[in-house]
Amino acid sequence: MASNDFLEKAWRENGPKVISGFSRPLYHNLQGLLRGYKYDKRAYGGMIRHTEAGMLTLWASRIPQGGVIVEIGCYGGLSTSYLLRGAGSRAGHVYAIDPFARDLEIQAERTDNCVSLEDKPSKALVASRLEQNGFAGRFTLIEGFSQEAARDWDKSVGIDFLWIDGNHEQAYQDFKDFEPYLNPGARVAVHDAHPRYGYMAVVEDVKKIFGKGCWRDMEHVKSIISGVKA
Ligand SMILES: C[S@@+](CC[C@H](N)C(=O)[O-])C[C@H]1O[C@@H](n2cnc3c(N)ncnc32)[C@H](O)[C@@H]1O
Repeated sequence: MASNDFLEKAWRENGPKVISGFSRPLYHNLQGLLRGYKYDKRAYGGMIRHTEAGMLTLWASRIPQGGVIVEIGCYGGLSTSYLLRGAGSRAGHVYAIDPFARDLEIQAERTDNCVSLEDKPSKALVASRLEQNGFAGRFTLIEGFSQEAARDWDKSVGIDFLWIDGNHEQAYQDFKDFEPYLNPGARVAVHDAHPRYGYMAVVEDVKKIFGKGCWRDMEHVKSIISGVKA
């Protein structure tokens, strides 16, 4: 199915829900039940559903051995933990980008007003959580904004899975900034990319991301739209 057709079906209000390759809620729920309840969403202040957590874990487990995952928007480390858990069997490394509790004035200037800047988890708190979860040595927390992280990215580090969940007004820009570093066959997943469960700005950006080029293995899981760059 062409990616534009896929997106139209994924977003249709009463679209069919059990067509293989389009929307697979039973499968996603199973993944969610098996893998998506490992970490305490409330304690982490996390923003992903159990089905989404389950599928993030599964996709992360499919990167190549020693592969690299980049997360834009880490917040309290919930999605980061699922990515690290999934990538464990591949000894994968996760680079998680977020300004955390630093530069709050700049964050206030740049904010999309989707996440409160009060009581933002600090980098130290998230690092200790990830270490307690058994991920020491397998993650790098980049305390800053995605645009600067992309500008300073080490070009020798190719990316196997790009997870975009940062500023909801710049999902396409985030994709374009990191696209040059995607390895062949890399997966891209964007959160909050459904009119019912997300933000229209992200929906529009996702049309631009997946509307161009060749994509395969497209998935729609609640508010996530994801595909593999062919
Ligand atoms: C929706 S939250 C991420 C939630 C997290 N992925 C989870 O599932 O638990 C979005 C985060 O992105 C951060 N953020 C906003 N703009 C950003 C940018 N340009 N680069 C990186 N992170 C950004 C916000 O401060 C916030 O912490």
